[in-house]
Amino acid sequence: MRRITRREFVESAAAASLASTIPPNLFADSTVMQRVVVHTDAEIGIVKPEFHGHFAEHLGSCVYGGLWVGKNSKVPNVNGHRKLAVDYLHDLGVPVLRWPGGCFADDYHWRDGIGPAAKRPKRVNIHWGGYVEDNSFGTHEYIDLCQRIGAEPYLAGNVGSGSPREMRDWVEYCNYPAGSDLSEERTANGSKEPFHVRYWGVGNESWGCGGNMRPEEYAALYRQFAVYLKEFGGTKPFLIASGPSGSDVGWSRGLLDKMKYELPDGLSMHYYEGGEDVATEFTVPHMDEQLSIFTKVEDAIRLQRSVLDGYREGRNVGLILDEWGAWDRISPADEKRYGSLWQQSTMRSALAAGLGLNLFNRLPDKLYMCNIAQIVNVLQSLLITEGIESDKCVRTTTYYAFALFKAHRSKMALRVDTPGPSPLGLSSSASRGENEIVLSFVNPRADADMRVECTLAGSSAKDGSAEILHSPNLNACNSFDKPDAVVVQKHAVKVDGAKIRLDMPRMSVATVSLRLG
Ligand code: AHR
Repeated sequence: MRRITRREFVESAAAASLASTIPPNLFADSTVMQRVVVHTDAEIGIVKPEFHGHFAEHLGSCVYGGLWVGKNSKVPNVNGHRKLAVDYLHDLGVPVLRWPGGCFADDYHWRDGIGPAAKRPKRVNIHWGGYVEDNSFGTHEYIDLCQRIGAEPYLAGNVGSGSPREMRDWVEYCNYPAGSDLSEERTANGSKEPFHVRYWGVGNESWGCGGNMRPEEYAALYRQFAVYLKEFGGTKPFLIASGPSGSDVGWSRGLLDKMKYELPDGLSMHYYEGGEDVATEFTVPHMDEQLSIFTKVEDAIRLQRSVLDGYREGRNVGLILDEWGAWDRISPADEKRYGSLWQQSTMRSALAAGLGLNLFNRLPDKLYMCNIAQIVNVLQSLLITEGIESDKCVRTTTYYAFALFKAHRSKMALRVDTPGPSPLGLSSSASRGENEIVLSFVNPRADADMRVECTLAGSSAKDGSAEILHSPNLNACNSFDKPDAVVVQKHAVKVDGAKIRLDMPRMSVATVSLRLG
């Protein structure tokens, strides 16, 4: 790698076609040149919008106080949903939303959340704090939210403490058009139109909070449940089995061996990127450790895919990274104030999001869906809210990282050669639409600015534009007092036919959109 001087770097930035928003004094002598080749004819697979999926659990203030404030709240709301949250999520586009858990799913009984709200039972949330929930947010409220933000619903059924009958009835209640008692009950509760729910999780983390089972025990239960989860009104359920934690092949093989010819439609794996520090107090070594985990996530995805592909019909099983994201050390003070697992998102979190989303763009042939945990307030969230009485709702750095990747959705992912195998090297991905190529880059380094020289092998660009999310402070975040501290800005990019050049300051995520000539 040739190092370029600070002077060269600053001169080139000034010569770029758009004014850079990065002050030149950010760049030290440690700028490194990164040569990237995008093979514009080497197609890998479609970047499914579902790679940008989300997860909402009854945990802390994700649902109550986050998404849901109630119809009588003084906080501006639409049918009980926090209006700002609905607007922000609608703007971003939420391809799929998994609900109601998580661990919560295997202790949730769906009938608790239907019918007149005042008559719904109050239940203790045994997994997350032992507080009482009034079930004012149930199936109808969830479907209403999905419709408002444009998300496809994904319901996680209760295997751990529920029964096949209970889950089968939920499917009928949601999807049977009319004429059965359950569909008439749905109509009486306000929805004549069936919900057409396609994605059904059959339990969650059945090796742990979802029943503490062995793979063969869960396999037997899965097979039993699956018999009763039927197509109603033309909506064929896509059944998602509870898969491994990380790369646990023992669980996957144990499960699939016992399923034999009755494989699920999807297998859900969970892989969090743990962190040593509280979100806003990360040290550089701990950031490096956390961001390095993405190479292990990649290995785990490849491994799980190869395990699946080894079974007859296994290739047809969609691999779903059902829970992922930075799980930092949780601040007891924040938890006390804002609820269980409340976590701020920082510039570091945005790098983590960018590394994950780039990874999914590079593995579209191996993945079916990916849901970051979670959508509001909990872990690596898109939005944070200040409490059920407050109308403050802030878009986090993670929200903006997702916004930067939106342009890849439904485009064809392309092979990209990036220098160096280091987990903390430049991360890149590319996708192609009609007359358009989208490139994304992440510089995860805290100590090195990068100049990216990118060659489009097989195509030529007419012009282009770039946007960047950047802060020189790894702990910078959008707070209730400073909601716009770290936001997407226009960035300089030089486009010269097949040659693209842009500067990636330390700790930055950028997307370049190119119009092909
Ligand atoms: O996302 C928080 C928890 O993490 C979920 O409830 C569970 O599935 C996982 O262990």
